[in-house]
Amino acid sequence: MEIIRTIEWMKQAARQAQADGRVVGLVPTMGALHEGHLSLVRAARKQCSPTVVSIFVNPAQFGPHEDFATYPRSLDADKERLRQLDVDFVFAPSAEEVYPHGFKTGVNVEGLSERFEGKSRPGHFRGVTTVVLKLLEIVRPRFAYFGRKDAQQARIIRQMAADLNLDAGIVVCPIVREADGLALSSRNACLKPTERRAATVLYRALDAARREIAAGETAAKRLQTAVRGVLDAEPLAATDYAEIVDAETFEPVSRLGPPALALLAVRIGGTRLIDNMLIEPKGESENSFCVQL
Ligand code: PAJ
Repeated sequence: MEIIRTIEWMKQAARQAQADGRVVGLVPTMGALHEGHLSLVRAARKQCSPTVVSIFVNPAQFGPHEDFATYPRSLDADKERLRQLDVDFVFAPSAEEVYPHGFKTGVNVEGLSERFEGKSRPGHFRGVTTVVLKLLEIVRPRFAYFGRKDAQQARIIRQMAADLNLDAGIVVCPIVREADGLALSSRNACLKPTERRAATVLYRALDAARREIAAGETAAKRLQTAVRGVLDAEPLAATDYAEIVDAETFEPVSRLGPPALALLAVRIGGTRLIDNMLIEPKGESENSFCVQL
């Protein structure tokens, strides 16, 4: 496994692999790797060789009062995990390498970037799309892997790839969870023990919607009420948003039909967590939904 620090070197290694007719895969991350990240790496390893994993805590996607300084960093442990998975290249550039003095360009996917996470975190998605476009251009992978844990991010990146005619296929992988349902996240490390217990409220809230759907409910308002009921009952949780939206447009829906998402952002103590559940119609029969948590 090779650790690459510079853009020039990364480009050379990736261009060489392409010239050799190999299928390059890219997994962009901010490090502090957990099983959620590693599931993307495994998916990439199945389809691609070489696999590049980028580790870069991207300052451009953090707001001035957000947790950039305290975001967990564990490069040595990350490298060890990636070595065990037979990753070919770890691309870990410095902030100065990615954003040299005089850097001026930003990419914005309009509309989709202004809702939910974009509304709560102004400028966040502009930072994400800008760095992801840079990574896609540096590595020029055949496939790039993202998690549905960040459903809005994945949707925005798919839109950017389509709008800008990027060659990379954007692969979106399922959410990996702890045994008690909490979606894996680097920020879970910031939770105190009581907060960690309270954090299962996100999964419990989504599960309440799932149970309503299984019982035949299709009205989004009712599902939202079920979700809110669970969230409001947890004293350590402060809900930022809890909505049922169309999975393509991220516009709120009134009734289940086309693929939808239950979207949550909840603050537990000082830590903001997001989660979601995909609600897809099953087969042809109306009012029959398959819910993927
Ligand atoms: P990061 O939060 O490190 O996540 C890297 C990738 O791992 C993202 O695609 C995310 O959706 C995925 N992921 C995180 N937790 C997951 C889980 N529990 N199950 C499945 N996938 C999971 O997302 C980012 O970094 C950044 O915004 C980035 C895309 C790297 C741009 O800076």
